[in-house]
Amino acid sequence: MRKIIVLDTTLRDGEQVPGAKLNVQQKVEFAQQLKRLKVDMIEAGFPSSSSGDFQAVQEVARSVGDQIGITALARAVRSDIDAVYESVRIAQHPLIHIVLGTSNIHVEKKLNRSRDAVLQMGVDAVKYARNLLPNVQYSTEDASRSEFEYLWSTIEAVVRAGATMINIPDTVGFAEPEEFGELIRKINDRLRNLDDSVILSVHCHNDLGMATANTLSAIKNGAQKVECTINGLGERAGNTSLEEVVMALKVREDRYQCSTQIETTELVRTSKLLTYLTGLDVQVNKAITGDNAFAHSSGIHQDGLLKDKNVYEIMSPADVGLESMELILTARSGRHAFRNAVERLGFYPDDSHFEHLFEKFLALADLKKEVYDHDVFFLVSGQLECR
Ligand code: KIV
Ligand code: ZN
Repeated sequence: MRKIIVLDTTLRDGEQVPGAKLNVQQKVEFAQQLKRLKVDMIEAGFPSSSSGDFQAVQEVARSVGDQIGITALARAVRSDIDAVYESVRIAQHPLIHIVLGTSNIHVEKKLNRSRDAVLQMGVDAVKYARNLLPNVQYSTEDASRSEFEYLWSTIEAVVRAGATMINIPDTVGFAEPEEFGELIRKINDRLRNLDDSVILSVHCHNDLGMATANTLSAIKNGAQKVECTINGLGERAGNTSLEEVVMALKVREDRYQCSTQIETTELVRTSKLLTYLTGLDVQVNKAITGDNAFAHSSGIHQDGLLKDKNVYEIMSPADVGLESMELILTARSGRHAFRNAVERLGFYPDDSHFEHLFEKFLALADLKKEVYDHDVFFLVSGQLECR
């Protein structure tokens, strides 16, 4: 079983989203929850962007950096690298993360330099960072839209300059799973010959809804580290969702033969904390952390589940930190599901009383569409009358 390193970048890429700005205290609170979740590494911010961000990275490093690897983002310039170094150095395992584009559009339009000049900038930045810390990650921004041989020359050069992790971003969520997997396989093959100690990482965005699939495909093709955010929060359509990748590896261990050290029973709590801190809701049908992810409402499904959970459940709600599945009752739920809800709430009516309650339930369900546990409680305890 191969261990996959999980880096959470909610506090950097996630927090870039409009409306998701957190203050220092909130960032520390979230980082402490990430520690309970047992992520391997946290990217805590972009310290050269503001003094508030610098302070937040420093406080996160101080608060949880004794057990979790801490990094922060730098462009390939000395002042950014210095800011990262100063803000993360207090951690036990600090890492400097440098980003620089490799696609033609980045090199020509954004950076407005020659390819050679951009490659040299990357090499100089890595050498500078390695004089400060032993661990340096280099991200080849927009890698999935880069010309492969130039991408590889950059990787080769920065590894020779001292980069210890290479991160391959699908910056604009353009890749599709087979293609991204193939890219990672080619890079991994060459990297193993160049320096087997260098860690290969991936960082995907969700513009076409394929971030999780691309990340999993990369894992199958040799990626050793994944960069994710909670609830998939991030620029535009977001980043790879941590909870989706982690649960896919766990539930489909037969396919991936990989594991993480994530404490999955903390997933829902972490998601809810992020929603609470940012005010950004999770879509109800979001995999793993959406409100409906473990809720079953159709009568046929409820009947099957009550006979054997595995009929319609591929993972247990308890595995992600939910107490139990919720059966949301509707007029179509049927007697079996209604009796189950009544008994779960501690009532055991005889058959004729049950029939009477069931009639009342149907009348309520016609009015209300969805009937929750608290409705059933009031109905059975006689405090709810339906007219
Ligand atoms: O999406 C991206 O390319 C990034 C890099 C900084 C890794 O966020
Ligand atoms: Zn990103």
